[in-house]
Amino acid sequence: PTIYLKDYTPPSFLIDTISLRFELDETATRVKSQLQVRRNPQAAVTRQLQLHGHESVELCEIKLNGAHLAADAYQREAEFLTLLDVPESFELEIETCINPEANTALEGLYLSDGMYCTQCEAEGFRRITFYPDRPDVMSVFTTTLVADASRFPVLLGNGNPVQRGELDDGRHWVTWVDPFPKPAYLFALVAGDLQCLEDQFTTCSGRQVTLQIYAEAKDLEKLDHAMTALKNAMRWDEEVYGREYDLDIYMIVAVDFFNMGAMENKGLNIFNTACVLAHPRTTTDAGFQRVESVVAHEYFHNWSGNRVTCRDWFQLSLKEGFTVFRDQCFSADMHSAVVQRVDEVGILRTAQFAEDAGPMAHPVRPASFIEISNFYTLTVYEKGAAVVRMLHTLLGADVFRKGADLYFERHDGQAVTTDDFVQAMADVSGRDLTQFKRWYSQAGTPRLKVSDHYDAASQRYQLNVQQSCPATPEAQQKLPFHLPLSVGLLRADGSSFVLKDGKTTQLLELTEAEQTFVFDSIDEAPLPSLLRDFSAPVKLVYGYTDEQLAFLLSHDEDGFNRWDAGQQLSLRLVNRLIADYQQGKPLSLPDTFVATWQSVLQQAPQDPAMAALLLTLPSEAYISETAEQIDPLAIHHVRHFMRCALAEQLESSWLELCRQHDSQSGYTASAADMARRSLRNLCLSYLMVLESPAHLALAQQQFETADNMTDQFAALISVAHSGFRDSADELLAEFLSQWQHESLVMNQWLMVQATDPREGGLARVQQLLEHPVYDARNPNKIRSLIGAFCQQNAVNFHAQDGSGYRFLADHILQLDAQNPQIAARLLTPLTRWRRYAADRQALMQAQLQRIMDKGQLSGDVYEVVSKSLCQ
Ligand code: ARG
Ligand code: ZN
Repeated sequence: PTIYLKDYTPPSFLIDTISLRFELDETATRVKSQLQVRRNPQAAVTRQLQLHGHESVELCEIKLNGAHLAADAYQREAEFLTLLDVPESFELEIETCINPEANTALEGLYLSDGMYCTQCEAEGFRRITFYPDRPDVMSVFTTTLVADASRFPVLLGNGNPVQRGELDDGRHWVTWVDPFPKPAYLFALVAGDLQCLEDQFTTCSGRQVTLQIYAEAKDLEKLDHAMTALKNAMRWDEEVYGREYDLDIYMIVAVDFFNMGAMENKGLNIFNTACVLAHPRTTTDAGFQRVESVVAHEYFHNWSGNRVTCRDWFQLSLKEGFTVFRDQCFSADMHSAVVQRVDEVGILRTAQFAEDAGPMAHPVRPASFIEISNFYTLTVYEKGAAVVRMLHTLLGADVFRKGADLYFERHDGQAVTTDDFVQAMADVSGRDLTQFKRWYSQAGTPRLKVSDHYDAASQRYQLNVQQSCPATPEAQQKLPFHLPLSVGLLRADGSSFVLKDGKTTQLLELTEAEQTFVFDSIDEAPLPSLLRDFSAPVKLVYGYTDEQLAFLLSHDEDGFNRWDAGQQLSLRLVNRLIADYQQGKPLSLPDTFVATWQSVLQQAPQDPAMAALLLTLPSEAYISETAEQIDPLAIHHVRHFMRCALAEQLESSWLELCRQHDSQSGYTASAADMARRSLRNLCLSYLMVLESPAHLALAQQQFETADNMTDQFAALISVAHSGFRDSADELLAEFLSQWQHESLVMNQWLMVQATDPREGGLARVQQLLEHPVYDARNPNKIRSLIGAFCQQNAVNFHAQDGSGYRFLADHILQLDAQNPQIAARLLTPLTRWRRYAADRQALMQAQLQRIMDKGQLSGDVYEVVSKSLCQ
């Protein structure tokens, strides 16, 4: 059944307090809950109390004000327990029995490698007990955990521990109280044999907070980085947003089985091990950065999410978009802001734009859904963050901060909407943001068509901007958006004109379908630098010549636009070569293009991090997203050709740069050292496509001698994807034996093989499914092998015979019964069938239809498949 935003009504009953007692048992956990219930004065009067409850929950006992409820006093349907006649206010006691061991969906209470943990967002609490499982019902939670003391020495809950004791049967118990009212989705518990790293943090007002990060004993050495990140995030939120932590203790627990990245449960975050464990020997630099940003993200949720939460799940971006924006700014402050921005925009412009153009496209605030789990999307997270960033840009940092202060003050302890967020910004700025709110209600990626005119006689320059937005499933027609368009104007000597307010970047505000902006006193014909720092999530078209793009690449003061000019220049060439390839013409690189790269290579030592970005061709995913029709073989072939040609023609430069950026002095985690590694390893990857034994020796040596995973892994992947098959197999075998006991490293090992573009990819993946390091129940393993193959190995996945599509459909069907969230997510590549030529379309559609015909699908998979088929 589809749920609509327009049908929202306030809850009929409120729960002032809930007291829970868990008697943990692998197959029969007893959950007793005691609720103080009262009618909501704000809602229509009813005598029926409807509680959510999953069909897997067994109802053992139910009492109202101490008396057993007669069987005809309530009704149990598939998803609800309805009490037919309840008083104004009362106490409700419910006892349920659940089976954590059988819980393979990893929602609610489940076992991860023998330890108990929970995941309640969005609707997992109803798999634990009967309750109004909606975010606008907020209650004060008390939790008592009872479990065998020797097997589960650590018992954790939300809030502060208040009491503990032992029972005579070898079990022990702990009671936790969380004083902050919260929705059920923020409830969590953990029980296991865990170790922890402990530290202290003194808040800005001088309160002492105990910080604990829990993991299995073997992983204790991998927690330092997360702890540092946590302390940095706590300090940053005080400094940048004035937000102080509010409990005496903050805990993070690492678990191996987890559907997503991490979860911000109040005072007790639960993390996918992949997003919290980090050690130089086993984690790449990219992994380190991910850990830092996810730790910060979940911490920031304490205010943007927990203290102020969502009224309903349509408002998910209220907390996610804002929190992603906050963690992006944090990362920009911790590292290079330009590199951070390039990474963010990369995700937005490839994956989110593709989502916006597909059958699952939805507004940042969706208007309807079948299964909310399907809406933890790039649109809600990344585009939602881009929308908050536009408010920040339009209002300026100071006014934005005032707006955030007002928002937190006004809504502390409440469950609110994205409208409330924008209203706070409107109130502090005195601006009418009505039109701006269309970003929340209209899906699709807007197009900006820019043209210009310079009149030398009047020294007047004009920019004409037309905006439009393609149709998406929920709407054919779109109204114009209100957006900030940051521009600069370059002189022929490469410097920027001084524009309004003495600045070299000017903010143009677009509100109309078509607008013309006039610049006066422009004394020479300028070259526009448009959409600086990617000021809005749009596709911009302006008729640059190749020479103009090359000029921006070397002169634009805006680091992001310099990078982007290089990308656009490469992208044009890619597209010309794709056309040549499709017409059977020979491929060749223009000398001017090679010369541009040569000069970037020469300047690389000045800024290795930036150089590593500039010297990376547009990804296959980005090329695909921008293509009229996706031809995966042509895209792969052309990109590979370009890499080979650049490697060959600039071989000595790559080699020299590679040597210069060697790690002589040993590993450090500094930004400079990370930048050096990224540039060196990029050079190595170019050299390796030349298939020369000398370069192979260089990579092998790096593999053997590296003292860190970044360098070792870069060497591995460059050899594993090369034509040196024997060496590839050797290194893969060596890597396996070196790291077989490190589960996260084994994910990487699976991924290298899953993404190998050489022929026979599917057969290799099928073999790996049988390998002992693979675990068909573990989401990280599924993502690393099946997910990586289908999303990052286009040539093999899109094999002409349809074998990749069939393989994916087989696994979706198998997985759906086990873990619907993961199954639905894995479907993404098939949903994009309209983007391919007719033959592939037919093959992909056939597999979607096959899944549909199976019947008995989860809501998750049903929603994605049905929407994909009817688009
Ligand atoms: N709120 C979490 C985060 O973004 C994500 C939880 C997603 N859970 C889910 N079942 N989809 O930090
Ligand atoms: Zn989040």
